[in-house]
Amino acid sequence: MVICDPELTVGMPRIITAGTGMDAFAHCLEAYSSPHYHPMSQGIALEGMRLVKENLPQAYADGADLEARANMMSAAAMGATAFQKGLGAVHALSHPVGAVYNTHHGMTNAVVIPPVLKLNRPEIEHKIEKAAAYLGIEGGFDGFYDYVMALRIDLGVPDKLSGLGVGRDRIEALTEMALADPSCGGNPVKLTNENVQQLFQDCI
Ligand SMILES: [Fe+2]
Repeated sequence: MVICDPELTVGMPRIITAGTGMDAFAHCLEAYSSPHYHPMSQGIALEGMRLVKENLPQAYADGADLEARANMMSAAAMGATAFQKGLGAVHALSHPVGAVYNTHHGMTNAVVIPPVLKLNRPEIEHKIEKAAAYLGIEGGFDGFYDYVMALRIDLGVPDKLSGLGVGRDRIEALTEMALADPSCGGNPVKLTNENVQQLFQDCI
């Protein structure tokens, strides 16, 4: 049994509101982008992204806004439902970074989303265009990318992993761990030693 009571989230610090909210967004985005077949998850992921878009800035601005908190709680539950369809490189990178550097999971995801979107663009552009249309974002893939960048700024997300204390000295070990992560299998572009190392370079 799960009890989703938004009143329990009212006291969350802003930085945790931002991080957990971006984790919910990352779950929906990665599930939506995954090539695996699961139409129900696809729909849940899309609506989950809409709930984040329309409620996370407000939950961040006013932590006592119960409507925004309730919608974010739904988005979080929906993201976790949707990701049975798969996750991808955002989580494959974020898991080892969190393990080695003790960074916040959702905040780490938020930092790595843009370079992963760029890597996956050839495989997901058509899907992201549809998502952008549903979310009321103009400009297709580029508009969606710009929306994510703006959301990160609004929520105080660092631009690079170096802003979370991650250095370039352990990229090879992080790459090895990322390639062993179960999330790899859901990434739209096949992950290799070469492109994961490059992703870490771009993210740091
Ligand atoms: Fe996550």
